[in-house]
Amino acid sequence: MAEGRQSIHGQWSSRWVFVLAATGSAVGLGNIWKFPYITGENGGGAFVIVYLLCIALIGVPIMMAEILIGRRGRQSPINTMRTLAVESGRSAHWQLLGWSGVLAGFLILSFYSVIAGWAMSYVARSGSGVFVGLGAEQIDEIFSAFLADPTSLFFWHTLFMLMTMFVVARGVRSGLEQAVRFLMPSLFILLLLLVGYAMSTDAFVTGLEFLFTPDFSKITGNGVLVAMGHAFFTLSLGMGAIMIYGSYLPQSASIAGTTFTIAIADTVVALLAGMAIFPIVFSNGLEPGSGPGLIFQTLPVAFGQMPAGAVFGTLFFILLVFAAWSSAISLIEPAVTWLVENHGMKRLTACLVSGFTTWLLGVGTVFSFNIWSDATLFGKTFFDLLDYLTANIMLPLGGLFIALFAAWIMKRDAVRDELGFKQSVGFRIWYPLVRYVTPVAVVIVFLNAIGAIDLG
Ligand code: PFF
Repeated sequence: MAEGRQSIHGQWSSRWVFVLAATGSAVGLGNIWKFPYITGENGGGAFVIVYLLCIALIGVPIMMAEILIGRRGRQSPINTMRTLAVESGRSAHWQLLGWSGVLAGFLILSFYSVIAGWAMSYVARSGSGVFVGLGAEQIDEIFSAFLADPTSLFFWHTLFMLMTMFVVARGVRSGLEQAVRFLMPSLFILLLLLVGYAMSTDAFVTGLEFLFTPDFSKITGNGVLVAMGHAFFTLSLGMGAIMIYGSYLPQSASIAGTTFTIAIADTVVALLAGMAIFPIVFSNGLEPGSGPGLIFQTLPVAFGQMPAGAVFGTLFFILLVFAAWSSAISLIEPAVTWLVENHGMKRLTACLVSGFTTWLLGVGTVFSFNIWSDATLFGKTFFDLLDYLTANIMLPLGGLFIALFAAWIMKRDAVRDELGFKQSVGFRIWYPLVRYVTPVAVVIVFLNAIGAIDLG
């Protein structure tokens, strides 16, 4: 019966389009903006190793679980969870997992859009040649002045939300398929160029050492939680984004193969971003742990100095905006599909409702960089709180329950059938991972972060 289910929202034209769309969702601000600055804040190499372990042992198995659940259910994550739970003779309350995903999507997009707005404004700045010949200090002043101006931040946030809603309203397929096809490879090439520039600085080796030489004394329990949270964030896991994309996946496509491709592409982009940024940080005497402004304070220095830097800078920020764009649409898709399915809304109306809600919530993040910058809870601003709550708590919890659902609630044969492993060895590796290793690992990281156990 499940084999016959079709999504009312359409289907990707091929497995390859799914890979592009899911990579589009995964590769975004998380790789280029967030990965470098949290690596900087958490001491470098050791953090990177924990992060890579989390991608392999937690991220990859959960991504497979999320895709298979999505394809089996072929509805919005809320309805998929309910349908599959009831089919397995379990409580319809499993739909709460879908609900927490929708909420996480709203919360993440509300700040994601503000940061994407920063990148948009940097397209304009690079294009007008503002950075040419400037030193790190002046570039830092430009950034601080920008953050201090809520009207500007608000303007760019609004524009980015409008762009996002535009694509989502048209249906994920038509707009997105074309865009990701050439944007992702172009971004990759530009990152290589930046790494090339970083090689020409006198601190390339220092940058690489920072990124790849582990010093485990520098990482804390909270650092491990941040690394795990980021594995979820960067792969778009734990909130139904990959689940809804999986629901548009043709039945014949291999889930394991596609998952590896996505995870590898995502990881390579993050590491390249780190390799481009840290040499620039060290050769200009900047602070690796300076926080969310890191790429906006470092990359313009490089663009200001390299030949044709204004052109490359503009191109880079354009591509960053596109990468953010293809991630943003997946953050809101679970909510939109639910509104269409359960409230009979047109896609456009559903987009307007969810887009407006997110946009409004974004105001909190805009203010947290200026007029509310002193308003903190547990020492965190509104933006910090949203980021911490979603990436480090909501996504890992969502992922934990997704793993439990695929491994303990769904029937083993149904899961096996959906994964369509040609050789049983793949299933024999994945199943115990998602049944025991992954859930236990997530719980251990949580307990370690709250100090209930000590990993040393
Ligand atoms: N993976 C995206 C990034 O790294 O920028 C962010 C993201 C998208 C997180 C979609 C969660 C999500 F569902």
